[in-house]
Amino acid sequence: MTVLALETSCDETAVAILRGDRSGHELLASEVASQVAAHEKYGGIVPEIASRNHLIYAPPLLDRAASTTKTRLSQIDAFAATSGPGLASSLMIGASIAKGLAIGFGKRYLGINHLEGHLLSPFFGVEKEGNDIKPNVSLIVSGGHTMLVVARGLTNYQLIGRTVDDAAGEAFDKVAKMLGLGYPGGPEIEKHARGGDPKRFDFPRSMLASDNFSFSGLKTAVRYLLPKIGVIPSEAQGSQGIPVNDAISDASGSLDYARDDVLRDLCASFEQAIIDVLVTKTIAAAQKYRVDLVTMSGGVSCNQELRRQMREACSCKRIEFKSAEPWLCTDNAAMIAFAALLRLESGFESQVTEEIDPNLALATKL
Ligand code: KG4
Ligand code: ZN
Repeated sequence: MTVLALETSCDETAVAILRGDRSGHELLASEVASQVAAHEKYGGIVPEIASRNHLIYAPPLLDRAASTTKTRLSQIDAFAATSGPGLASSLMIGASIAKGLAIGFGKRYLGINHLEGHLLSPFFGVEKEGNDIKPNVSLIVSGGHTMLVVARGLTNYQLIGRTVDDAAGEAFDKVAKMLGLGYPGGPEIEKHARGGDPKRFDFPRSMLASDNFSFSGLKTAVRYLLPKIGVIPSEAQGSQGIPVNDAISDASGSLDYARDDVLRDLCASFEQAIIDVLVTKTIAAAQKYRVDLVTMSGGVSCNQELRRQMREACSCKRIEFKSAEPWLCTDNAAMIAFAALLRLESGFESQVTEEIDPNLALATKL
């Protein structure tokens, strides 16, 4: 069975072709066109620009995926697209294209929950044991979402807790912006945190005893700390200027050692505060729900220090740990194709009359 999937839930246009059967699957193509540059100057994603760009990028990505794999669209068995959650005007583009192709070629259509795509991604490339998804506690941690889910099998998901304010990735992005670093903020903070002292600044670890998460207090703690250590938050400068005052930047405005040192420790301390919360709550959930597998997915799970510490914490408790390879953690269509393939093999399909849903839920609360 060959599935073609589109992912257009936010500002990334992605197309993938995945072939699979009972014994395994093979990714034939995975194309992603990023729009980061188009939105950067607005300081956030502009929905209309995103959807216009999806319309521009999707046709050539489809052509490239088909031509590099020598696949005719008529040979595809099912067309899938992300149907939510996400930006309505973005979701509509991918879903409309997939529905049009399914109708045109007389094939099946599958609307896939973006979060299910993330949740199943750690199983991508893993030898299949039937279609079974081993019971696991899944941490989905991205720019739009931070949630813990108990997955007891394909489509059997229950929500343990989610963020009550910012997602972890959003906190990385907002703090990076305060520090005058680029977007997306996660990789920037990770890069600057390398070699830093994670204990130098004492940031809060909020709601540790709750099922839910909160990261806005951490972001505010960073904002209040900056003036005390001689760093002017970049938004307070009203421009994208260098976020340090004269005391720690030289006359040319370039960064000197003092600032590098502060920045390194600040990034490391901030990163560690997020890691502590994610690791502590995930391990507690795995123990509470008595699973012996933890999975982690979403853009923030690219973070090497988070992966290392989560793996170590799991191993201390004799819990198996699985995380997708980094290229599969950020938004892509391969994870959507994979979820579609597993669903198809289990007898699921969607109707082309099914609407996109910007607030599509993955799981009901336990
Ligand atoms: O999954 P994703 O591509 O999109 C959403 O569904 O939100 O996640 C993007 C988020 C951004 O907030 C980005 O800053 C964060 O993932 N991210 C990271 C890293 N790479 C991406 N956060 C921490 N460390 C990283 N290395
Ligand atoms: Zn995502």
